[in-house]
Amino acid sequence: MRVPIVAGNWKMNKNVAEAIAFVNQIKASLPPASQLETALAAPTLCLVPMIEAAEGSPLKLMAENCYYKDAGAYTGETSPRALYQAGIHHVILGHSERRTYFHETDELINKKVKAALKNGLCPIVCCDDTMGRRVAGKKVHWVVSRILADLHGLSDDEICHVTIAYEPSWAIGTGDSADPAQAAEGCYLIRQTIADMYGDNVANNVRILYGGSVTTVNINSLMAKQDIDGVLVGKDSLNPTTFLQLVNH
Ligand code: PGA
Repeated sequence: MRVPIVAGNWKMNKNVAEAIAFVNQIKASLPPASQLETALAAPTLCLVPMIEAAEGSPLKLMAENCYYKDAGAYTGETSPRALYQAGIHHVILGHSERRTYFHETDELINKKVKAALKNGLCPIVCCDDTMGRRVAGKKVHWVVSRILADLHGLSDDEICHVTIAYEPSWAIGTGDSADPAQAAEGCYLIRQTIADMYGDNVANNVRILYGGSVTTVNINSLMAKQDIDGVLVGKDSLNPTTFLQLVNH
């Protein structure tokens, strides 16, 4: 039984005061985590104050990125170990914006996934799908090869702590969401790839999310699909009222 997830990704939005006010506004209206998990990925600076504000509520806080070293001379990076020690147990890795603007490769993302898991963080690994590939009809190969590369070398135990997000880059921030059938196809292909790598039992337990222009209007039809276990929401997670509507869809 895969518990559904509604996760927000704030990206580089909100300051500490705004983040605390947001948590205070939503925390009493969230469903129990056994029914639906609610998570927010926020800028690093906001995470610790948000954990304090969310205490006693089911809200999970997630980092948006981390490095693959625990400590050392890596100016500007965030340690996965320090995140865990601060009470953060989830991290988004390989988001399309990290791949595009910060030139993150599958090899780097694979190192980050391993470092996160080693430190007790559960990664949400994002798998994108470019417009060029969509037009060329090469989506299938692309999604599969991404997953193979990003998850290379993970044990059965480790993969059980990974969540995957299928996020076509042409759908992110554009208002042009994949339709539910397209989104479900991407998630299905990812699950088949996991089944090939780890067997059906593991594949049936790994949660796979869809992300890219999810709104209060399309969330129901997306989440009704069997292989879509939840959503990763950017823009529409920034407003507390809209976020609560998504969570209580
Ligand atoms: P969006 O972003 O909902 O604004 O399209 C999704 C994401 O980047 O995870």
